[in-house]
Amino acid sequence: MENMKEEKQIILTGDRPTGKLHLGHYVGSLRNRVAMQESGKYIPYIFISDLQALTDNARDSEKIRRNLIEVALDYLAVGIDPKKSVIFVQSQIPELAELTMYYMNLVTLSRLQRNPTIKTEIKERGFEKSVPVGFLTYPISQAADITAFDARYVPGGEDQEPILEQDREIVRTFNSIYGETLVEPYLITPDKDICKRLPGTDGKNKMSKSLNNCIYLSDEPEVIQKKVMSMFTDPNHLRVEDPGDVENNAVFKYLDALCTDEHFQKYLPEYKNLEELKAHYRRGGLGDVKIKRFLNNVIQETLAPIRERRHYYEQHIDYVYDMLEEGSKVARQKAAEVLKRVRRAIGVEYFEDMELRHSIYTNIDDSMDFDESHKRRGR
Ligand code: TRP
Repeated sequence: MENMKEEKQIILTGDRPTGKLHLGHYVGSLRNRVAMQESGKYIPYIFISDLQALTDNARDSEKIRRNLIEVALDYLAVGIDPKKSVIFVQSQIPELAELTMYYMNLVTLSRLQRNPTIKTEIKERGFEKSVPVGFLTYPISQAADITAFDARYVPGGEDQEPILEQDREIVRTFNSIYGETLVEPYLITPDKDICKRLPGTDGKNKMSKSLNNCIYLSDEPEVIQKKVMSMFTDPNHLRVEDPGDVENNAVFKYLDALCTDEHFQKYLPEYKNLEELKAHYRRGGLGDVKIKRFLNNVIQETLAPIRERRHYYEQHIDYVYDMLEEGSKVARQKAAEVLKRVRRAIGVEYFEDMELRHSIYTNIDDSMDFDESHKRRGR
């Protein structure tokens, strides 16, 4: 890959269009993506993984179809900018399917079955008895998603690490068999641990639509307030005077992920920072309502500009679809280049390879007219 010209590193990541994006997506990945985009050091490819969503929703393709626009709106709302990032749709890149075919030969069934993320997801979906082949093999198609764009970095949640590990194995196997062709991808998770796995408002589980414990980026202010005020805290913190626990307390986890010292100056000036607030809660004498009101202010301030931008793009839906179509064209060009390299490495570009033609059989009579004309046409 010596002749790869880009000095900028390529990053790629995507989301399944099964619902609107929420605060967990925001602190776990979206915020990072926008920062990387704005740094100017990367070429970001951001895509909606409708094909991957179909691997466990094949009978409900309408859901995927409807949610495509929701994810696109959330992208634009958080500040992913089509002038700086290539925003596209997975199913519009048929090159990915061909790459997947090649990679499938490099992975064993038992290796797929051992993937911890896949194992968990199979359980969550009740697929133990009958898992769709497409679902079990999605780490392979994810390797195609990533390598098709020469992506080096993949911003995502912790649950993506086992998938990325398997993807790197595929890349290494490919490169060792066919020569250096593909780029090894690495996951980028947020610096703060809490951002890697933000719990839902129930405080127990990961934020997830099916558990009804999400704060969506598109939630209206009253909805956010209601969700925050009914959040799980420390069950033993019954009276204000009681000492409270900040470790297993969802409100403090959210504050860890979201609040800054400026938020204190603005909304809770009797404390300098989160450490002071935590210390008071631990000592006792600080009520849940007060910390929830503060958290509500922090979330409202974070989500207000996002919601405003979303409302704007909701009024310009044609623009959003056109943007996705345009981005998909650009992405497809890049994927086609990489696919060409892959085909050449494997050796399935039969008709461009004049050496192959003449390596086994040599033409006895090169002067024969029909033979000449065939050779020219081949080129
Ligand atoms: N697996 C990701 C998710 O669960 C979506 C995805 C598909 C993806 N292909 C990818 C993420 C490639 C990063 C890179 O949402």
